[in-house]
Amino acid sequence: MKPRFSLSLIAIAMSLLLISPAVVNAKDSLKTIMKTWKPQNALAKELINGATPYDQAVAKGILELYLAGQTELSGRISPDSAEGKDLRARFDQFGSDIRGAMGNLGTRDSFKAAYAKVTANCGSCHDKYAN
Ligand code: HEC
Repeated sequence: MKPRFSLSLIAIAMSLLLISPAVVNAKDSLKTIMKTWKPQNALAKELINGATPYDQAVAKGILELYLAGQTELSGRISPDSAEGKDLRARFDQFGSDIRGAMGNLGTRDSFKAAYAKVTANCGSCHDKYAN
């Protein structure tokens, strides 16, 4: 009984070793990339509340920055663990909402609605993984 017990412990330890680095590695780059999103998110809010006049090109630039980061992070997350799988699915959804928003930049109101959908991804992922 004793050897069996230690064998399963080793198996658990090994699976943890296999899984953690990929997710942790992704988390390091998460921080670096998301730091650059903070001022862009503030700018987007200004475009929406009118503090900065609405400009489609500026709105597009914000979404392009998110999309570049999303693509990089999605690629770095290994979906081999439950956490990795969940994070990957969340980033994929985030990416598809960003692409959707890019087709809705015509007016401040259309951007406002599309951007709310994009940032819902930030909030729900942070609730689970960052807070
Ligand atoms: C699929 C998950 C996910 C999505 C989507 C996401 N984030 Fe994050 N974010 C995280 C995680 C996890 C951390 C914490 C990283 C850490 O502390 O290791 C984080 C951290 C941050 C930080 C803090 C970085 C720092 O300086 O420590 C900012 C700012 C941030 N996110 C902004 C955003 C914004 C803005 C969006 C949406 C436009 C967004 N995030 C979308 C998962 C996500």
